Amino acid sequence: MNQPVMEGLRLNVPAYVKHQRLIAWVAEVAALTQARDVYWCDGSEAEYDRLCAQLVAAGTFKKLNPELRPNSYLACSDPSDVARVEDRTFICSAKKEDAGPTNNWMAPAEMRELLQTGDKALFKGAMKGRTLYVVPFSMGPIGSPIAHIGVELSDSPYVAVNMRTMTRMGRAVLDVLGEDGVFVPCVHTVAAPLEAGQADVKWPCNQTKYIVHFPETREIWSYGSGYGGNALLGKKCFALRIASTMGRDQGWLAEHMLILGVTSPEGKKYHFAAAFPSACGKTNFSMLIPPAAFEGWKVTTIGDDIAWIKPAADGRLYAINPEAGYFGVAPGTNTLTNFNCMASLNKNVIFTNVALTDDGDVWWEGMTDTPPAHLIDWQGKDWTPAIAKETGAKAAHPNARFTVSAINNPALDAEWDNPAGVPIDAFIFGGRRSTTVPLVTEARDWVEGVYMAATMGSETTAAAAGQQGVVRRDPFAMLPFMGYNMADYFQHWLDMGKKLQTLCASSGAKLPKIYCVNWFRKGADGKFVWPGYGENMRVLKWMLDRVEGTGQGEEHAFGVTPRYQDINWKGLDFSQEQFNITTHIDKAAWATEMKLHEELFQQLAFHLPAELPATKASIEARLKAE
Ligand code: GTP
Ligand code: SPV
Ligand code: MN
Repeated sequence: MNQPVMEGLRLNVPAYVKHQRLIAWVAEVAALTQARDVYWCDGSEAEYDRLCAQLVAAGTFKKLNPELRPNSYLACSDPSDVARVEDRTFICSAKKEDAGPTNNWMAPAEMRELLQTGDKALFKGAMKGRTLYVVPFSMGPIGSPIAHIGVELSDSPYVAVNMRTMTRMGRAVLDVLGEDGVFVPCVHTVAAPLEAGQADVKWPCNQTKYIVHFPETREIWSYGSGYGGNALLGKKCFALRIASTMGRDQGWLAEHMLILGVTSPEGKKYHFAAAFPSACGKTNFSMLIPPAAFEGWKVTTIGDDIAWIKPAADGRLYAINPEAGYFGVAPGTNTLTNFNCMASLNKNVIFTNVALTDDGDVWWEGMTDTPPAHLIDWQGKDWTPAIAKETGAKAAHPNARFTVSAINNPALDAEWDNPAGVPIDAFIFGGRRSTTVPLVTEARDWVEGVYMAATMGSETTAAAAGQQGVVRRDPFAMLPFMGYNMADYFQHWLDMGKKLQTLCASSGAKLPKIYCVNWFRKGADGKFVWPGYGENMRVLKWMLDRVEGTGQGEEHAFGVTPRYQDINWKGLDFSQEQFNITTHIDKAAWATEMKLHEELFQQLAFHLPAELPATKASIEARLKAE
């Protein structure tokens, strides 16, 4: 029993799988993709070790020196498959306006024909010669009422092992699903079918890529890439794009946010959720170590990339991290700027696209001041500082990443997997801006905060394929991750504010404050003015003072910014002059900035909440009057 055979293909269904609809779907996808065989992941350590050994044998993984980096591996991808592909990412809602002007859209029927049903449907035969891995996973603690389950069918063992670290993965999830539990079906292929006798490559992938979401039926179909958010479908595809539409329908929020706890020397604990675009500092901020002058203060990590946030009857918002691991940016990470992160990487890590040292360890730009004398770079070529100087070759790809379990993090918050979540005291939104945007601004109210988040701009980074360093609007740091119309999402945030206000009026709770930050302003010398990293604690502390009602600041056209004397500078040599560079409001620059807000609002005119242009008008009036 339970062993259907599809056109000669054994499904290998374990006896503990009782979910007939799941089995039927696996059979259907196996038949469509013509996978060679099917393997159901149980999530055990033995299975992880076995798959890693298999990846080593296939040449995808290199086992690192166990003395230096126990139980850790390096994978180097195909040079064409190194980041998320935003122009190949689609939201296939029934109506185009539900995807909105910031998303690529195709009619569901048309996309299904292209991927699944047409004569030349891309998924037909896409897994030929490969094993289809059934990867059951839970976003959020297994069995918890806030968690949602997905099942990823992938022909990439690299995906299977990464999913074990990034999510709660394996048999326990199927036990919760039982006979008819609800799951989000996620299909992933590297789209590199193997004919009989054809040798495999180290990193199979396809030049053609499709990252496709069907929000109405809550399905994900990913074709052609094996990298990161394109392939680990629990992360951006499910926990942000699909979950954001679930949140819209059910009254909660799925956000591209870290979650951190701050505990005062007196033991009072606060929680912040912060949205920065990709490669703009979430992982670093969530693991921050306060400067020595902040004796007794402690920052702890709940999450580093994604937050699911739900309102409770007490009028407060409670946030959970749906993930179980970190898929973090390696370059720039070192013991001085992020000690906790480096400590997390001591063992049990999968590195992707970093450089290999001669003694079998890893290195990336920014890890040490002096690079090793010789490396094998992420493309397998010899690398020396002299070669780098001559050719500009990077040892690690700028979007090189590590995959590591949250439990490796020495700063992990005790509540990190509490299904009830943590109550949020303030939201922070921050972009990467060399100019214009001050170090920190507090919104005067919820609507002004939503305006700040909605109009946020940031310079593009290596986390997505395409040009880097170009300022673009990235509302709520969600531009690449919105599962529905951006203007409707703004409305959802405004509605949430109104709902909370009503609840707070009866409970006496306070709405979270909203801040906008910019760690990345540059001086005339082209260098960052603000020291960043641990020193960001000084800004965090000012926010806390404001939450407590004791912090002072100066009101300006679009909010409240601290004066020099409002920040604790103990132990840091940072002059009033330097501070002025980080906070200065340049009128001409802001006139240009407001034009970019206007452009965004024109693009999002359909369903744009009236509060936003109204807020813009009052900011402009104040800018003029000042
Ligand atoms: P995703 O995983 O892509 O969503 O990125 P993230 O927001 O978690 O970014 P992360 O913390 O990995 O930082 C990305 C890059 O920015 C790294 O190279 C960091 O070293 C650098 N960075 C982080 N925080 C700061 C900061 O406060 N100041 C400066 N100058 N750089 C920072
Ligand atoms: C991001 O790009 O924001 C990431 C990395 O966190 S990925 O999982 O590839 O999307
Ligand atoms: Mn991210």
